[in-house]
Formats: sequence, C-alpha cells, structure tokens
Amino acid sequence: VTPATRSRPARAKRAVSARTINVKTASSPAHRYDVLIGKSILHRALDGLTTPGRPILIIADDRLFHHTVRPLFTAAKAASCKPTLAFVRATEANKTLATLDRLLQAAAAARLERSDLIVAIGGGIVTDLAGFAAATYRRGVRVVHCPTTLLAMVDASVGGKTGVNIELPASGSRSPVLLKNMAGAFHQPTRVVIDTDTLESLPLRQRRSGLAECLKHALIAGGLGDARLWSWTSDFIIEPWLLKHNELLELIERNVRVKARVVAGDERELASTRAGGRMLLNLGHTFAHAIETLPGLSWKVTGERAITRGPLLHGEAVALGLLAATRVSAQLKLCEPELIDDVRYAMMSLGVPISLRGLPKPNVILDRMRNDKKTTAGKLRLILPVRGKRAIVRDDVPTAAILRAIKAWND
Ligand SMILES: NC(=O)c1ccc[n+]([C@@H]2O[C@H](COP(=O)([O-])OP(=O)(O)OC[C@H]3O[C@@H](n4cnc5c(N)ncnc54)[C@H](O)[C@@H]3O)[C@@H](O)[C@H]2O)c1
Repeated sequence: VTPATRSRPARAKRAVSARTINVKTASSPAHRYDVLIGKSILHRALDGLTTPGRPILIIADDRLFHHTVRPLFTAAKAASCKPTLAFVRATEANKTLATLDRLLQAAAAARLERSDLIVAIGGGIVTDLAGFAAATYRRGVRVVHCPTTLLAMVDASVGGKTGVNIELPASGSRSPVLLKNMAGAFHQPTRVVIDTDTLESLPLRQRRSGLAECLKHALIAGGLGDARLWSWTSDFIIEPWLLKHNELLELIERNVRVKARVVAGDERELASTRAGGRMLLNLGHTFAHAIETLPGLSWKVTGERAITRGPLLHGEAVALGLLAATRVSAQLKLCEPELIDDVRYAMMSLGVPISLRGLPKPNVILDRMRNDKKTTAGKLRLILPVRGKRAIVRDDVPTAAILRAIKAWND
C-alpha cells in the first residue's frame, strides 16, 4: 500500500550512515524492502513512509527504556503524525490471540486506516505479534520492524513470518501444551531498521541466545554463498562480548544476507523436501520447540558457577536443537562426527547449555516434536546439517537415531 502523500524525512538530524540490504520476495518481486543496519539510526525508521495528520500505532516491548522508544515517537511527531503507543509484555505465554486482539483494538481505537502504519519495537515476540496484527488489521497494513534483540535483528524481523502460540488445554494425563507459532500469516515488512544502540540494555543471556541463531545461519551458509561464515562466527564467538562495533555490524549484515537469500528463493516455505528452501532455516527448531517451553529444567553453562533453572530461551533451545540435529546427521553419515565437537565447542564458548537436567523421558519429547508444523501425515521432517553445504531435509530418519540424540542432552 502506498501512502497518498509522502512526507519529508523527520528532520535532517546527524548524517548517520547505515548499511542497507535490499530484500526481494519471490511472490511479489515488486515488493522489496530495505533492512537498514547502523548506530543511532532509529529516528530514520519512518522516513518517507508517513502522511501528515495520520495516526501511527507503535507497538513496543514494555521492558525497553523510554529513551530507546522515544526516537520513534519524536520522528512520528516531527512528521506531523499522531503516534499511539501499545505495550506488550514479551513472554511466550503472552504471545497469544488474546494479545493480538488487544493490539487490533488499539489499532481500531487509534483509527488506523488501510494506508496507515504500524511500527514494532522489541524482540521477536513483539515483531511476530505486531507483524500478525499488521497482516490482519483491515486485511493488511504496512509494518516497520525495529528489532531490539540480536535474535530479532538477525532472524525474526526479516522474512515476513508472523504469528502467535496456541495453548492446548490439559486433557487426561496430558498437561497443557503450548504450540509455538501455530497461527500466523506471511506479511513482509515495509522496512526493517536495526539500530545497534538498542542492544545496550540487552542482558548477556539474551545476547548469547541471539548468537545461537547466528550459529544456525553459519551452519547452513555454506550452500548460501557465505562458505566462511561458520569458521568466522565460531572464531570470534570465543570472546563475543569483546566484539568491535564494526564486527557486530558485519555479524548482523552477514546473517541478514543469509536469511534474505533463503526468503527470496522460497518466501512461503513451499519448496519441496528435496530443495529444502525456507525450511532450512528451521534447522534445530523441531527439537527446540519440544523443549523450549518446558518448566523445571536446569543446566550449568561451561565455565560459570551458577546453575540456571528453566525454561530455556529460544536461542538456547535452538542451540541444543542444532546439537541434536548434528548428532542425527552424524549417525546417518551425512557429516563427520567431528562436526558434533565443533558445534559443542562453539556452544561452550558462547555460554549456552550443552546438556540439561530435568528433561521428560525421550519418548515424551519425541511426542512433543510430532506437534511440529513441519510434520506431514505423522512423519517428522528434520533439517540436518551437512558440513560446508546447505543442510538437507529428511522425513525418513529412524526413530532410534532421534531418541539417541535426545538422550545425549542428558550427558
Ligand atoms: N518470525 C520469525 O521468522 C522468527 C524467527 C526467529 C524467532 N522468532 C520468534 O522470536 C521470539 C524470540 O525472540 P527474542 O529472542 O527476540 O525474544 P523476546 O522478544 O522474548 O525478547 C527477549 C527478552 O528481552 C527483552 N528485551 C527485548 N529487547 C530488549 C532490549 N533492547 N533491552 C533489554 N531487554 C530487551 C524482552 O522484553 C524479553 O524479556 C520467539 O517467539 C520466536 O518464535 C520468530
């Protein structure tokens, strides 16, 4: 949707340069959007997208500092728009249809029309929820994503997947199950603005979780034009907090490029099992979704004293999923066993758990894995890493190999 009148940029503030990646989408080559990456660039998020006098709904993570969100508010005011703020408490239990309903009500109360704009500022929970609200409000309004976690910067904010979780209530002996991202829509953003200033308040554990998603990209990047991403990532991940700003920008840029390349080839995840397509981005996720919301887990991060108690963060679960998928790959001789050590070593250096206590029995985890969206006709589809190449998708993995990989989380 193109606004009738384009406004002037908010104000010629500092001339701040940003790296720009243009993302193409397969279903609509005409729909391309820019991902801007840089420092102190949030005030540019609305440039050229606003119409004076119109409302803008800003959906913000309620844990962000006021000064993090303020540049958006100021930019909207400077463009003579009427900004309204709606806050979201970013938890998986809150990523629901009820929260979506509240956001849609906020859009209606602010009198947003079809050509108006929603802006999301927060981590992946906020961008998924705000993206879904934008996809459904009046059957689709534009959304600008301003991710504030590393994970949302390199993954969730790019590619147009939006959605919420669905909770299946307890029945019989089964406890309630939270089905991750079970309702949603594909809705590409109009722009993504990655301002590295927003990471300053992000807790260490959340940063590590984001870097785990970078490990996932690095494992599949061999077949996606960045063969050296694995060695580059695992080299500097040893001291990830000493990253110079330029390295952080390079990390974000290379990861967004990997994601953009996959999305351009298979926007709606329709590629065949053989081609893999967008499904490859789910490497580790079938395992991860089965353990990610489990309470009562505990683990110790290598080199640290404290014992952490569950639930896991998304990136932590994905890292454990990468490890399990690599263990399955090695059993099927799709990769050498050394790749398991490489992945474990990268996870240890990064400071995410490599083993867990308090897991349910392997069969129970396998059963939870079968709730995965990629399951067809009851067959589990797993993405498996193949060193130096694109990962592959297999739906014929012997159950015993999967159970062995799950059991190894107890080691
Ligand atoms: N749509 C996609 O393609 C896609 C891809 C990957 C993940 N996801 C989804 O993303 C979600 C995970 O995203 P996430 O890891 O960003 O988690 P999140 O949104 O839960 O954010 C993590 C925590 O950090 C806080 N936070 C966010 N930004 C902050 C900041 N700058 N400073 C301080 N605290 C901050 C949040 O309040 C929250 O407590 C999952 O729901 C996952 O399903 C979606």
